[in-house]
Amino acid sequence: MLVSAEEMLTKAKAGKYAVGQFNINNLEWTKAILQTAQELNSPVILGVSEGAGKYMCGYKTVVGMVNGMLEELNITVPVALHLDHGSYEGAKACIEAGFSSIMFDGSHYPIEENVAKTKELVAICKEKGMSIEAEVGSIGGEEDGVVGAGECADPEECKMIADLGVTMLAAGIGNIHGKYPENWAGLSFETLDAVQQKTGTMPLVLHGGTGIPADMIQKAISLGVSKINVNTECQLSFQEATRKYIEDGKDLEGKGFDPRKLLAPGAEAIKKTVKEKMELFGSIGKA
Ligand code: 13P
Repeated sequence: MLVSAEEMLTKAKAGKYAVGQFNINNLEWTKAILQTAQELNSPVILGVSEGAGKYMCGYKTVVGMVNGMLEELNITVPVALHLDHGSYEGAKACIEAGFSSIMFDGSHYPIEENVAKTKELVAICKEKGMSIEAEVGSIGGEEDGVVGAGECADPEECKMIADLGVTMLAAGIGNIHGKYPENWAGLSFETLDAVQQKTGTMPLVLHGGTGIPADMIQKAISLGVSKINVNTECQLSFQEATRKYIEDGKDLEGKGFDPRKLLAPGAEAIKKTVKEKMELFGSIGKA
């Protein structure tokens, strides 16, 4: 059964480790992540962006697929199904469809509107036993080839949003989605420390987990990060393994064209990446 992310993140914050959110794109992705979490006895959060939700034929399809896998694969570790960077409408649709967790990304609204909308969604989630993530300080990334530097959140604004009763808070600390540019300045631990001091026991979320050096990840965890989002890195692992399969001509040998064979190296590569991240985040054995 899907669970809210609250308990797993409260434990992670207290135990000074982080739970990985791995974004899913299809059946192979979901299966690879769930199997790895089970094998390593780690809690896990499956992230679904609005785009990926559409791609997978809507939120209800996603809920059906994930619930089916939990049962058929005998998954017993805690699993949360979480909307990633949800709009207000998307958040409501996921609540309706049976997700166990949502992120409402109101970071692009003026703070007053972010507060009002977050408040309303917090009340709904509380009633349904779901967890809710909010974001302060927009997390940049590459758009049309333009790389925006990640913003740093205002600690006062973080406190304002944390006090609304959200379960976990994503604060921009110079992190961005996708690959980091050569000249990236690194995470702002000064900002993270200030946010953590204002928000106390609130689990903090680090987006843009792809490509952040291990020592920075560990320092971020020591300063209160309890959830780390990874998406691009699994895509790159999948791509590399799939490319190799084709380039080695494996699809031309025997029944190598069978999609179950064609997609297998990519799925194994995702498992390896997820395992590495769980080791780094310290969530192994914490289910
Ligand atoms: P990356 O794609 O950089 O790993 O970021 C994932 C993320 O933060 C999803 O919200």
